[in-house]
Amino acid sequence: MNNNTQPFIGMHKTELDTPALLIDLDKMEANIQTMADYFTTVNASLRPHMKTHKTPIITHKQIAAGAIGVTCAKLGEAEAAIHAGIRDVLIANQVVGAQKIARLINLAKHSEIMVAVDSPQNVQAISEAAVAKGATVRTLIEVNIGMDRCGVEPGKPTLELAEQIRQSPNLKFEGLMGYEGHTVSRPDRAERDAAAREAMQRLVDAKHYVEKRGIEVSIMSGGGTGTFNITGSIPEMTEVQAGSYVFMDSTYGNVEGVGEQFDCSLSVLATVVSHPAPNRMIVDTGLKVLAKEFGIPQPVGVNGVEMTGLSEEHGKLQVSDVNVSLTPGDKIEILPTHCCTTVNLHDRYYGIRNGIVESVWEIAARGKAQ
Ligand SMILES: Cc1ncc(COP(=O)(O)O)c(C=O)c1O
Repeated sequence: MNNNTQPFIGMHKTELDTPALLIDLDKMEANIQTMADYFTTVNASLRPHMKTHKTPIITHKQIAAGAIGVTCAKLGEAEAAIHAGIRDVLIANQVVGAQKIARLINLAKHSEIMVAVDSPQNVQAISEAAVAKGATVRTLIEVNIGMDRCGVEPGKPTLELAEQIRQSPNLKFEGLMGYEGHTVSRPDRAERDAAAREAMQRLVDAKHYVEKRGIEVSIMSGGGTGTFNITGSIPEMTEVQAGSYVFMDSTYGNVEGVGEQFDCSLSVLATVVSHPAPNRMIVDTGLKVLAKEFGIPQPVGVNGVEMTGLSEEHGKLQVSDVNVSLTPGDKIEILPTHCCTTVNLHDRYYGIRNGIVESVWEIAARGKAQ
């Protein structure tokens, strides 16, 4: 990427070439503050997920507002965070295979990294690699609390893995993690509350089971944007991994009790490239800059137009209002339906305040899927 970002600073956002990923800085900062304020009222702390923004400067802002560290999905994100001076890092996924474990151990020598584990083989492999390099790796056991993704079952399987970790040289058993991902985006608040509490109770039960056998569980981690104030209010929880709240998207915007508290701060600036028929208009934002697995993203601030389809480089808009006077060259903003996967399609953010480009940030961990 061209790192000379200077020419953009001070431009009006509509002067930017497109497609361009915009952050409304006032809204993002308000989101960070709202979440930070909530975590001053409960026992749990916030460890925001970096998979949303993939950019260390935003993690630094979250930590400055009170977060205790960062959650990452991938080693590549953890590397970006640690190289940018962030020390307290949780990889909330399994790190498997000799090459990746070697990278994990390297990071452990330069940070307080923690990793999720859910199998005896993986525990053994990390321990052996840590011994060989003289590193210590902190671990959380991932427990399956109903999402049926990764994770050992609560009860005996969790206890047995905890015992193995405690006996494994150069590993530290810190606690348990469970992600209630099957509940976080249920729009109805009461339904989401009940489902999330049921899931988190499994993690709490797992903690009690392990502690009854004399093993201390210091960390209890879980939660997302949709459950931050459900999971976050459970006294046994010590950390919440919410990520999307920083930007939001139209999907989370429709989740009752969440959409009202956080504002959508992310948009993709598009140019109208063609208006070939009165009822059809085409913009230059297709699938390569806008994710659509949660639905087709829609324009903001323009009435009478609806995005009806995306192909690789084109967004097709249905124009239902004859008063829409957009012509080729005009720019509009599109609100993502899924912020995390949309961010991963871009090289940089343009940070906008009062319509003007204030900052340009490289998305350091963009595409870092390994
Ligand atoms: C392990 C884990 N924790 C937390 C989250 C929460 O993310 P969000 O705030 O986007 O709901 C996710 C989302 O994918 C996740 O996979």
